[in-house]
Amino acid sequence: MGIGATAGVAAAGGIALGAQASTGSSSSASSSGSLVFDPDGYEKLTTTVTGTDGAEHAVTYHFWKAITYVAKPVDATYQSLVVSAPVEIDGKAVDASDAPILFANSVGGYMPSSVADATGVGAGGMGGGAPGGGAPSGSAAPSASAPGANGNTNATGGATASNQLLALAAGYVVVEPGARGRTLKNSAGEYYGTAPAAIVDLKAAVRYVRSNKGRIPGDVDRIVSAGTSAGGALSALLGASGDSPIYDPYLKELGAADASDAIFATGAWCPITDLEHADGAYEWNWGANATQSTGKVVDQSVSRDLAAQFAEYQASLRLRGLNRFGALTARNYDDYLLEQYLRPSATRYLAALSASERETYLAKNTFITWSGGKAAFTWDGYLAHVGARKKTAPAFDAFDLSAGENNEFGAGTTANRHFTAYGAKNDTTGLGTKRVAADIPEKLRLMNPMHHLVDKVNGRRSKHWWIRLGTDDTDTSHVISANLAAAAAGLGDEVNHLYYWDQGHGANTDPGDFISWIAEVTGFKRAKN
Ligand code: DHB
Repeated sequence: MGIGATAGVAAAGGIALGAQASTGSSSSASSSGSLVFDPDGYEKLTTTVTGTDGAEHAVTYHFWKAITYVAKPVDATYQSLVVSAPVEIDGKAVDASDAPILFANSVGGYMPSSVADATGVGAGGMGGGAPGGGAPSGSAAPSASAPGANGNTNATGGATASNQLLALAAGYVVVEPGARGRTLKNSAGEYYGTAPAAIVDLKAAVRYVRSNKGRIPGDVDRIVSAGTSAGGALSALLGASGDSPIYDPYLKELGAADASDAIFATGAWCPITDLEHADGAYEWNWGANATQSTGKVVDQSVSRDLAAQFAEYQASLRLRGLNRFGALTARNYDDYLLEQYLRPSATRYLAALSASERETYLAKNTFITWSGGKAAFTWDGYLAHVGARKKTAPAFDAFDLSAGENNEFGAGTTANRHFTAYGAKNDTTGLGTKRVAADIPEKLRLMNPMHHLVDKVNGRRSKHWWIRLGTDDTDTSHVISANLAAAAAGLGDEVNHLYYWDQGHGANTDPGDFISWIAEVTGFKRAKN
């Protein structure tokens, strides 16, 4: 990607409002309780940002170390944010007071993410949750890779800090929030970071920023959220659910600032969302592909059951495809993905190659026909090209409760729970009940952007959407992002959704375009001096 950065302290300024990093217990966190941003509490830092064109940019910026964003934190280690605002770019003074604010979360795998120890911009990009599926073994800390028994390991999300660095070099303010995640457990053995903790935290962080209008650098009415994978899901949810009252009791309990949590625009890379429908969507998409861990196809009767559920769900959404495609159904979604996303993605990729590189690629990938400057191929050809799928079936609500998402829907002292009727009915862990718990439907609403775009259309949602996905990404179904895009576009929102050809989970191969898009949609122009 050509993004590199080196940061060094140029001179120290004041000290930021303290984030009292707790040790992970729900009662040990403390804070000043003040939600007033201290404009003078920064350090002055310098960094070198390599642009997408390879040119180096010297950036001097003010950096506010971890600030606790709620008055009554459960765990300030996670409920804190850092702020970076450029003051000089390539030797020229810049004023970021009216610049867009990139609100970049670093959540991965629905795990905890912390910026408590961040010493400069982009640190959150490395602080994302580590992979891990299934029941955590009791540790509150982000664990190392601990694949679930069904192979449904979560990959890391948001591995690069390129968005943040490029944003800073473009003159934007960068806010990086931490958030609680699914594995956090207090001394009483209670999980305090499972759904809806992460979205409540991100909303509280947005409220903190907005309530500090005039004190915090940047235009608080031009917040652009970004995240990858689980972080992409949360970014999309943040965009869809702006000011929805269903989060109010949770925000009140944390002592969140009294301000709007609506954001202006949403960036979501490979969002792992619409979790309660993701098992069906996954089988519809990848049901015939072998599984990476076994080399075999999954139980085809389970796969067929789930795919049938998807068909029903898709019909109930009543979505229409982009570019006047018409009603999106399980019967035509393969054609839709091919026409709208996959062939154009391959076409862009191939068109950018030299003639000889293209010839080599096409010789290796004979399922593609290249004619008139366009790539053509069938759905079956494409599926074979992707090859083995990452997950077993069901991909998200595992019968043995081993998926990371089972933990995301844990509650109290129960680490892992079912969140679909089908998962609960087919439970293999010996549970006494074959139904989901009574609180699950509400938890699902709190976690699903589609709720705010389809079931109960939210007028306070973000109206600009940047969505990206790699064509090789089998962490979820391609339908998930495409439905999100279709739902937003159907409401009249501006949607920019592309697929990266031959890229896997977590790819972000056009960060410079995202930065330009932010300028476009916010109307921001850096003053030329
Ligand atoms: C992530 C990946 C997954 O496969 C998943 O199910 C949830 C989250 C991630 O990379 O964040």
